[in-house]
Amino acid sequence: MMNKFSIQDLQLKDQQVLMRVDFNVPLTREGAIADDSRIKAALTSIQYVVNQGGSLVLMSHLGRPKGKKEARLSLQPIAKRLEELLEMPVLFAEDCIGPKVEAMAENLQPKEILLLENLRFYEAEKCPEKDPSFAEKLAKLGDVYINEAFGTSHRKHTSTYEVAKQFNGKSATGFLVEKEIAFLGNVFERPKRPFFAIIGGAKISSKLGLIRNLIEKVDGLFIGGGMSYTLLKANGQKVGDSIVEDSEIENAKEISKISSSKAVKLWLPSDIVIAESLSNEAETQIINGKDAIPDGWQGVSVGPKTCADWKEALQNAQTIFWNGPLGAFEYPQFADSTYEMAQFLAQSIATTIVGGGDSVSAIQQLGLLPQFTHVSTGGGASLEFIEFGHLPCVDILTDR
Ligand code: 3PG
Repeated sequence: MMNKFSIQDLQLKDQQVLMRVDFNVPLTREGAIADDSRIKAALTSIQYVVNQGGSLVLMSHLGRPKGKKEARLSLQPIAKRLEELLEMPVLFAEDCIGPKVEAMAENLQPKEILLLENLRFYEAEKCPEKDPSFAEKLAKLGDVYINEAFGTSHRKHTSTYEVAKQFNGKSATGFLVEKEIAFLGNVFERPKRPFFAIIGGAKISSKLGLIRNLIEKVDGLFIGGGMSYTLLKANGQKVGDSIVEDSEIENAKEISKISSSKAVKLWLPSDIVIAESLSNEAETQIINGKDAIPDGWQGVSVGPKTCADWKEALQNAQTIFWNGPLGAFEYPQFADSTYEMAQFLAQSIATTIVGGGDSVSAIQQLGLLPQFTHVSTGGGASLEFIEFGHLPCVDILTDR
């Protein structure tokens, strides 16, 4: 059990609940909600407040509007979607602070819900030091504070951190935050073994801390996707025009060294799909993973042999953590291995945990979400939790 107050520890009847949610949903080019999973993920806590007889003020960010109002990043369509999902009215405030919002919040009756406009229309949301009064104005809107924004709990922003500070004794985690931390925490503290991690994605720089931490915990680490070319280059291999972070070569060497000193097997691609350009029409070839990639060609995915080898090695896994695609899967021509791995994991008897981001999109595209043990709603947050074992915006909540 967590050492923080949970939503169930607070008296909510006739209280105004200020709840930070993460409704930072992906949008289509036309501005419609492309995926409402994050809204659905907060419903249990929202319904709980209503059923307890509290009134509810919800606040979130959407996108990265840089402190200015941007019509396409308004939360109004989210209020509509929330109404449909809850089958009850949701009021919408066209701002997140100020006298009008305060009046709306004051008039809120028990069991009523108000969603505020995008917090990031104010620069002080991301940079609290620019205007400390922003936190006070938000804090005025509630009697108690709930953090239900797991996906944003690694960001020490005004609504996630500074506001929470003002509710000592009256702040708590929501059900989603509890569930995420229970799953990720359990896996990383007491995983059933053998425990393996598959890490992909373009940039090794953004996942170095994660990889270092995983080496301490896993029985084997599989690295594919764009970041594998930096590791291959660090091993002295020619990688042609593949994506490489030259500034990370020394760190990549260190990763190989640490894994051999810990006797943790580091699996790199046994074959590579290479292409003349990053496009669906490009000519492709499959080469051995140890062969040089010719100039004018780039690695775009792990190949079929890699998938077969990795699947065999993962056959007896009891726990598998996956983060990041195994190739440039946004191009259908290069998506096979990422999809194949998603399908394999969906059928695996192991506890399968997916840490946010592009791997979740791949699973969603295949309709395989329900077949995973836990799919995190937080990309950056889940990785930070695994790296450090805690998140600042949970740490700041009331201790039990
Ligand atoms: C996310 O989608 O990872 C969170 O909502 C945080 O968003 P940010 O990366 O724009 O801070």
